[in-house]
Amino acid sequence: MKHEFIEKNVGLLAILIIVAISFGGLAQITPLLFQKETNQPVDDLRPYTALEMEGRDIYIREGCHVCHSQMIRPFRAETERYGHYSVAGEHVWEHPFLWGSKRTGPDLARVGQRYSDAWHEVHLINPRDVVPQSNMPGFPWLAENLLTGEETGRKLEIFNILTAGQGRLDENGEPIPLYSEEEIAGAKAAVEGKTEMQAMIAYLQSLGHALR
Ligand code: HEC
Repeated sequence: MKHEFIEKNVGLLAILIIVAISFGGLAQITPLLFQKETNQPVDDLRPYTALEMEGRDIYIREGCHVCHSQMIRPFRAETERYGHYSVAGEHVWEHPFLWGSKRTGPDLARVGQRYSDAWHEVHLINPRDVVPQSNMPGFPWLAENLLTGEETGRKLEIFNILTAGQGRLDENGEPIPLYSEEEIAGAKAAVEGKTEMQAMIAYLQSLGHALR
């Protein structure tokens, strides 16, 4: 009888469903927030350089993540093709995550160092020059657009804020910010006058550096 009463009261049913789901969520999600494995960087993880950071922003601007995932699942078919499956500790400093959910093209989580810079340049200008059957669009303007570096330092500062408390620990057990004052001050000079292509390739070559 009670059950029938709940099922016939949509509002009450909705509230009770939310309560039930919340308990499930709490039980599954809360432990993850406190597990070292999911919130600490893996040993070899290093922050993006200023140039790689600019490349990452261009990757987002051009929508590369719409066709490419950066998340290798722990299945044989994936690890044979792409390498070690992705782990949370590789992504603790990523904002936003670029895991993606659709693969029109291959996963790129470990594409770094797999091809030469020259290959990437030709491929990004016109993919069909190196992969004849490719249906990836070309991005020829990357080779022409120059970076000004006006906002690069600010971007690094913002990453320090986003990752506050997640940096590596110094000898006193205090987390060290990802980027030092000098790196932030030097960010503009590190990218100014470089092409967007150089930034993109630097970013692509860094992917998967922490675990191969
Ligand atoms: C419309 C979907 C689409 C978009 C958008 C796209 N790609 Fe691709 N990408 C593909 C496909 C399909 C392939 C496989 C064929 C090839 O290698 O060209 C590919 C291949 C690649 C490869 C080679 C991967 C490997 O392991 O062989 C890289 C690197 C790459 N894309 C980078 C990018 C970058 C960087 C961008 C954004 C500037 C981008 N892609 C945008 C579809 C896309």
